Amino acid sequence: GGSLGAVDRPPHDIPIALTYDDVSIVPRRSSVRSRRDVSTRTRFTRAVTIEIPLVSANMDTVTTAPMAIAMAKLGGIGVIHRFLRVDEQVEEVTRVKRHTNYVIEQPYTILPDTTIAAAEAEARRRGVTGLVVTDGSRRVLGMLTARDVRAAAPEAAVKEAMTPFDALITARPGVGLDQARALLTGNRIEKLPLVDDDGRLAGLITLKDLDAVRELPLASRDERGRLRVGGAIGVRGGFMARAEALLRADCDVLVLDIAHGHSDQAIAAVREIKDAFPTSQVVAGNVATAAGFRDLVDAGADAVKVGIGPGFACSTRVVAGVGIPQLSALLDCAPAARATGVPMIADGGIRRPGDVAKAIGAGASTVMVGSLFAGRDESPGDVVKRHGQTYKVYRGMASRSAAAARLAIEGRDDALDQYVPEGEEMEFPLRGPVADVVGELVGGLRSGMSYVDASTIEQMWERCRFVRQTESGRRESHPGSPREDPG
Ligand code: XMP
Repeated sequence: GGSLGAVDRPPHDIPIALTYDDVSIVPRRSSVRSRRDVSTRTRFTRAVTIEIPLVSANMDTVTTAPMAIAMAKLGGIGVIHRFLRVDEQVEEVTRVKRHTNYVIEQPYTILPDTTIAAAEAEARRRGVTGLVVTDGSRRVLGMLTARDVRAAAPEAAVKEAMTPFDALITARPGVGLDQARALLTGNRIEKLPLVDDDGRLAGLITLKDLDAVRELPLASRDERGRLRVGGAIGVRGGFMARAEALLRADCDVLVLDIAHGHSDQAIAAVREIKDAFPTSQVVAGNVATAAGFRDLVDAGADAVKVGIGPGFACSTRVVAGVGIPQLSALLDCAPAARATGVPMIADGGIRRPGDVAKAIGAGASTVMVGSLFAGRDESPGDVVKRHGQTYKVYRGMASRSAAAARLAIEGRDDALDQYVPEGEEMEFPLRGPVADVVGELVGGLRSGMSYVDASTIEQMWERCRFVRQTESGRRESHPGSPREDPG
């Protein structure tokens, strides 16, 4: 299968390629009673299964820890972008891995002589509301809670304001979850430090995390109950060191992401990573043809990202003149995905919920989303205020400003002069939590699946058929688009 990239085709024999708006899904007799009976369980990579097929893009205006946490809680996954120093990216991964771990193994701590102001800044930087107070050898002295901070002067020392050890409810490292919950609720506290026989800090259990475990049956978790997260890496410079650092932080998936994934360099990089870290899960991309898909699978990829130029902030097709309309790229790669058993990720171009159903129907296992997840509460980036409206920036990772940030990190600022951007920068009005749009996308997918009698993603691959539509068909599809007034 796969003919779009075939080199033996005569040059004048130009195939047509289509995208989401050019097609519509054919309904068929369905035995699915309700959208609730549809399972969206899918594989992100060979070994990582998730409950909803949505991935937040590894872009610096889309995914850092808050977005990755929100995505994993909802049943999808986020990929931390790589336009950060290695230690910063590791810190983002660590924030996700700690988030709903009901036992936080290495809680953030503070020394007793620190000022309240500094402790407050530390808590804010770490994204937590309380810090365990320990001495230099990790012996527990007390706990500094948000309430302690509020009651204290900023210049006071932590040891004067903290809840001291003898007033603290603690437990042994091996405490069971039910017992932990009883201690927390019985004493009306939020955090339970775990202290070993020598009085040293051995962990922390928070009520919030215990509740989260209960309330989030779909959440994407590793075998230890921690949220799953991906981390992006490149193919140049210190990419192996970055990969190793991410894996050491228990990053679940490495996403090797370069603009032209069907390149010798990308193929070699996938090989090198899989050789060095055989048990790691590696996503590779981006490609837009079956040949590209297969070459990355042969190199060892555990999932392949498909999409050259469909992204909302992308200008590859206008700048380089290269790319394949996304639905055809997916259809071209689908047979390779089926034959190899390696999941296909449809990356870019999702504008409406129906596009997710079309991407999955075309053979994708998951969909990577950028622009629809930008401007959300959880998206990183500065908030811009203008005329009483609040905006966040969304930018292509190959845009001029993103490239400037990356080159600065790599210490190659001088390379910016020769840089030809293949991405744009734009602003989106703030539009609330990402859960809202995730709900719309998943709802659309479930509905689409029920129309084709698919109660699983695999059935969707088998049963989904498309029709091509004309421009008038496309117009008919969109509610309220200009039509002739019936008078
Ligand atoms: P959406 O449509 O969801 O697409 O915003 C997100 C995807 O766009 C890709 N991307 C780029 N492509 N130039 C490109 O040609 C860029 O500057 C750029 N930045 C992001 C990427 O695959 C992302 O997941």
